[in-house]
Amino acid sequence: MSRIVIVSNRTPGKGPAAGGLAVALRKVLGNREGFWFGWSGKLTEQPQAEARIEDIDGLTVAQVDLTREDHHAYYAGFSNSILWPSFHLRLDLATIESYWYEGYRRVNAQFAKALMPLLRPDDIIWVHDYHLIPLASELRNLGARNRIGFYLHIPFPTADALYAIPHHAELMRDVSRYDLVGFQAQRDVAAFTDFAQHQAPSTFGARAIEAIDFSRTDVAAFPIGSDPEAFSRLAASPAAKKMIHRMRRSLGDQALILGVDRLDYSKGLPQRVEAYEKLLANNPRLRRNVHLLQVAPPSRDTIKEYQETSDTLDAICGRVMGHFSEPDWSPLTYVKRAYGQPSLAGLYRMARVGLVTPLRDGMNLVAHEYVASQDPADPGVLVLSRFAGAAEIFPEALLVNPFDTDETSEALRMALDMPLEERKERWQGLMAAARTHNVDDWALRFLDRLAPGTADAGSHS
Ligand code: G6P
Repeated sequence: MSRIVIVSNRTPGKGPAAGGLAVALRKVLGNREGFWFGWSGKLTEQPQAEARIEDIDGLTVAQVDLTREDHHAYYAGFSNSILWPSFHLRLDLATIESYWYEGYRRVNAQFAKALMPLLRPDDIIWVHDYHLIPLASELRNLGARNRIGFYLHIPFPTADALYAIPHHAELMRDVSRYDLVGFQAQRDVAAFTDFAQHQAPSTFGARAIEAIDFSRTDVAAFPIGSDPEAFSRLAASPAAKKMIHRMRRSLGDQALILGVDRLDYSKGLPQRVEAYEKLLANNPRLRRNVHLLQVAPPSRDTIKEYQETSDTLDAICGRVMGHFSEPDWSPLTYVKRAYGQPSLAGLYRMARVGLVTPLRDGMNLVAHEYVASQDPADPGVLVLSRFAGAAEIFPEALLVNPFDTDETSEALRMALDMPLEERKERWQGLMAAARTHNVDDWALRFLDRLAPGTADAGSHS
């Protein structure tokens, strides 16, 4: 049976607990033969040609170190200061430095060179996310004929945003060298198809350049999910109960509104706190009866735009606290650190409202985890951004435009006032969707489409 080779920038055990990617993929290799390939998390003086193979908690992981310069250009530079903001439609936050692209390509070429000797001809290769768009091209240039799939965890941009990315035509040509390209949502497939079908000559300059041939690339949406059964078990575990107890002691009867996000400008955190500020301003009866807890572990904090988002959020939280706090009551708690899953599951379960309002997001697994953690007899309400991929599968959430803080504030009020019967009814729909779109089926669907028949065999081994 073919092995599965997963490739991603971060390998398991090395990333921050907040990223959903590692949690999701560890499961795939739990019952398959194969290995995981990626960056070791280490920076060196000399570029490394060969991968180091290690066993990390029962998982075979092959890793390469990167030089400090390459890593900076590839990760903080091209991936997170150009691709990330552009794909999230924040061209205002993109910075363009031409040497970053060279570093991005160098790292992808280095990955391909170190991975190639580890491959068998029938291995199925599954590449993850925007850091590694050129990897299939680089592998094919070295002679790889394997089935290679690519999954984009973040949204695919509109054509105009794509055109703002330096070397976008080359990157799209790289996309065409994959056998299968998977997106989170139908809106991403539509944006991609729009680009693929209407590649205007203007994209490539006045001289007619051969259009990119996507005819051999299969494209589909594979909305990622969580492990809802595991989360609902966790939410009832002693560790979660301990957290709930601790929170109840400090909050008393106050209703908890909870946000959990990496500290990233795509998450709409300032707008969210402003919506909460309006809630308190417009509904004096809620003061002393409601509390916002925002958990936001720092992320990519060497990048200026991330530091600025952090400063903005500090200022807004300070303003709301200064305005509404009383000596014996505070309207919000803002925690800049990551929590383990058992504690999070406890927080999700006790929160009357799960507030998930990214300005744009690939899927958003917090929405899934919040739903899965609820008590079926007394579930909370999910307030969800229309611009998260999750909105396509969770129509029973209170869907909001996160840019419109009045609308979000009104949704918060509705959520807090919602009768038990309606909460239950909505939650049942949400939970059914979370079960249908679970992470195991997500991986099997992708792998089965990439190499028909192999996923079934794997699920029984
Ligand atoms: C998003 C991306 C992942 C990334 C994660 C954490 O979920 O899609 O590829 O790993 O954020 O970001 P970081 O930059 O810390 O890896």
